Amino acid sequence: MEKTFLMVKPDGVQRQLIGEIVGRFERKGLQLVGAKLMTIPVELAEQHYGEHKGKPFYDDLVNFITSGPVFAMVWQGENVVELTRKMMGKTNPKDAEPGTIRGDYSMFVSKNIIHGSDSPESADREVALFFNENELVTYDKLINSWIY
Ligand code: GTP
Ligand code: MG
Repeated sequence: MEKTFLMVKPDGVQRQLIGEIVGRFERKGLQLVGAKLMTIPVELAEQHYGEHKGKPFYDDLVNFITSGPVFAMVWQGENVVELTRKMMGKTNPKDAEPGTIRGDYSMFVSKNIIHGSDSPESADREVALFFNENELVTYDKLINSWIY
């Protein structure tokens, strides 16, 4: 089953949105297979956001994501990468539709509440960056037969 890396950013943790965000993915029918509250070391932030190095907002992005605890998660489900990107909404909350996480809860591009992998390849890379194999669980949810 496809997996993705999702993370409630420091602004979402401070704004007490962890439960709301986890609840949306649970109610959709996705399955949580790993989660932890952590403060990201600068080196990990630089690896994670390596694709943005050199962009004008890069330093602010690394400073922000390391500024306080994040809630890092791995979720699985059919087509989970594309689906969760849709549920998150556009990067800039000004363009994000109501009903999406960013559309409902955020106002400004650098404080947009949540990160989600943008392709199955980045999902594999990001899951491996943030989680050890033994931090992910494999289990059957009986309710899956009512979902698929
Ligand atoms: P992530 O899921 O966080 O990776 O967002 P994304 O994939 O929707 O966007 P992208 O990877 O292009 O950018 C990563 C993050 O950098 C965004 O979530 C924003 O918080 C921030 N960011 C992107 N573009 C800008 C910008 O033009 N200005 C500022 N200040 N921040 C930006
Ligand atoms: Mg991105």
